Amino acid sequence: MAKTLLSIEDLEVTFRVPDATGQSRRLVKAVRGVSLHVARGEVLGIVGESGSGKSTVARTIVGLNQRTAGTIKVAGRELTVTRGSAARAGVQMVFQDHASTLNPFQTVGRILDDVMRVAQPGRSAAERRATAQQLMSRIGLDVSALERRPSSFSGGQRQRISIARALTAEPRLLLCDEPTSALDVSVQAQILALLETLKRDGLTMVFISHNLAVVRQVADRIAVMYAGLIVEQGPAAELIEAPTHPYTRALVDAAPLLTKRGSLLAQSKDLRMTRDISVAVHGCPFANRCPRADTACSALPPLAEVKRDWSSRCHHPVLDDGGNDSRELLAVVGARGRS
Ligand SMILES: Nc1ncnc2c1ncn2[C@@H]1O[C@H](COP(=O)(O)OP(=O)(O)OP(=O)(O)O)[C@@H](O)[C@H]1O
Ligand code: SF4
Ligand SMILES: [Mg+2]
Repeated sequence: MAKTLLSIEDLEVTFRVPDATGQSRRLVKAVRGVSLHVARGEVLGIVGESGSGKSTVARTIVGLNQRTAGTIKVAGRELTVTRGSAARAGVQMVFQDHASTLNPFQTVGRILDDVMRVAQPGRSAAERRATAQQLMSRIGLDVSALERRPSSFSGGQRQRISIARALTAEPRLLLCDEPTSALDVSVQAQILALLETLKRDGLTMVFISHNLAVVRQVADRIAVMYAGLIVEQGPAAELIEAPTHPYTRALVDAAPLLTKRGSLLAQSKDLRMTRDISVAVHGCPFANRCPRADTACSALPPLAEVKRDWSSRCHHPVLDDGGNDSRELLAVVGARGRS
């Protein structure tokens, strides 16, 4: 079995936020006992609707959020809660909002050079320059891009530059948080193609998106999050083909269908919720939207193995692929999700 690079055990992240009156604070359990393992060279996709805790997991790995409990190890070594710990362990992150992460006053060459001077202090200016030029070709931009500022590029090109900046540190783990969400579908496809190339080169990645169709293009395995919990986890292709958790089934039915070239075959139904789902702490958090719910669901189900290397957090997982209940489910989710 491939060696584990990233190992997260029982991660909990709780935020204190002002309540509706603004007079006192309430606790939001954004991540509830999440355990994840990513093998070297593997791409793990994390999907789930808005507010399910995906970004909080990634931000906690790189120290941008503080964990309440749990351990995070990279190559067997535990990360501390300080910000530089993940970077020293070879973890880099690419964000959705590339505009705010690139200094608008610096040229691309300078942006990349600043990272390299910290990450590889022993290298000469000429070596760093050569690496920057190689990176431009790797992300599909001309070397002249090094002389320009971020504002002179399109959104898709800026996201490539963000990826190049992460790569300058020669990461062994790249966390991508919604790297294509702000982009047009055709530009999305170019970024996905770039990430697929990095995957072929052996880079280990965690790819976060609320869009299952996008995740399926790059992920080997998928973890589905709902209300701060992993509700299903398994091999990407099989999980999308025959999801066992009612929530995953709803996501699959609602996903836009993308061809490999990135053209949209069908538009997604909007599963994003308008309310804070992370406050549902008792029983199965999906119970108020699930047509399979019964009295057993007032107890939180464990994440239990349903097939080899495949687990589901449901008292009544769907273990065959027959029937039309996912369509029925989608109707229920759609109706309640819009309320
Ligand atoms: N810094 C913070 N302070 C307080 N609450 C937060 C903070 N960051 C996240 N949250 C809350 O934690 C929960 C999970 O948020 P998170 O951003 O991880 O969700 P997400 O799955 O990434 O959603 P999206 O798809 O919209 O990016 C939400 O209820 C959110 O409001
Ligand atoms: S545990 Fe019950 S409510 Fe939760 S997803 Fe399974 S069937 Fe639905
Ligand atoms: Mg997010």
